Amino acid sequence: MKKNVSKSLIMAPMPVLIIATYDENGIPNAMNAAWGMQCDRDAITISLGNHKTTENLKIKKAFTVAFATKETVVQSDYFGVETGANINKIEKAGFHVEKSQYVDAPVIQEYPVTLECEVMELADDEGDYRLTGRVVNVLAEERVLNEKGQVDFEKLHLIAYDSSLKVYREVGGVVGRAFHDGVQYKK
Ligand SMILES: Cc1cc2nc3c(=O)[nH]c(=O)nc-3n(C[C@H](O)[C@H](O)[C@H](O)COP(=O)(O)O)c2cc1C
Repeated sequence: MKKNVSKSLIMAPMPVLIIATYDENGIPNAMNAAWGMQCDRDAITISLGNHKTTENLKIKKAFTVAFATKETVVQSDYFGVETGANINKIEKAGFHVEKSQYVDAPVIQEYPVTLECEVMELADDEGDYRLTGRVVNVLAEERVLNEKGQVDFEKLHLIAYDSSLKVYREVGGVVGRAFHDGVQYKK
């Protein structure tokens, strides 16, 4: 029997995206964002409130997005509970940045996979924002790649956000092949 449950769970699971930006003085900042997804072949969209990050995006028109991992869960959560308006969160977390070669935004070294993005649109909906970014490059540590050079989620120890229990979960193993397993019903 099915029951009606809290709407705190609408999409499950959600990604744990770490948006990194520079402010007008070149100080790097990082924030945790779960309300994001891929919206085109080379584009992503993220729903944002009015944060230090949003201000930085307006100034620099560039950002990076890293995927949080099991090893970085504590620092990644910190990036979601403190504002960079008061403190350099990246320094406080003991993380390090290098400037992206492609966009005016920091690449946080401790995350194995990072998307380098330019702002396509930062639509203002009465104080809430919908960020759309074009991914101009993807950087990955060799140690998280498989033999074909593709990112392997299990090597990455990718985590997801469970908004029902408000916990982070590690993304598990492969259970099927996409565009393949369902084909048997077409016969
Ligand atoms: C798990 C988690 C997910 C979050 N997702 C979002 C989100 O998708 N959009 C948003 O605007 N804020 C989100 N936040 C809140 C911001 O990360 C938080 O307000 C942060 O302090 C903003 O940092 P900044 O002021 O340095 O930019 C999330 C926080 C957590 C812990």
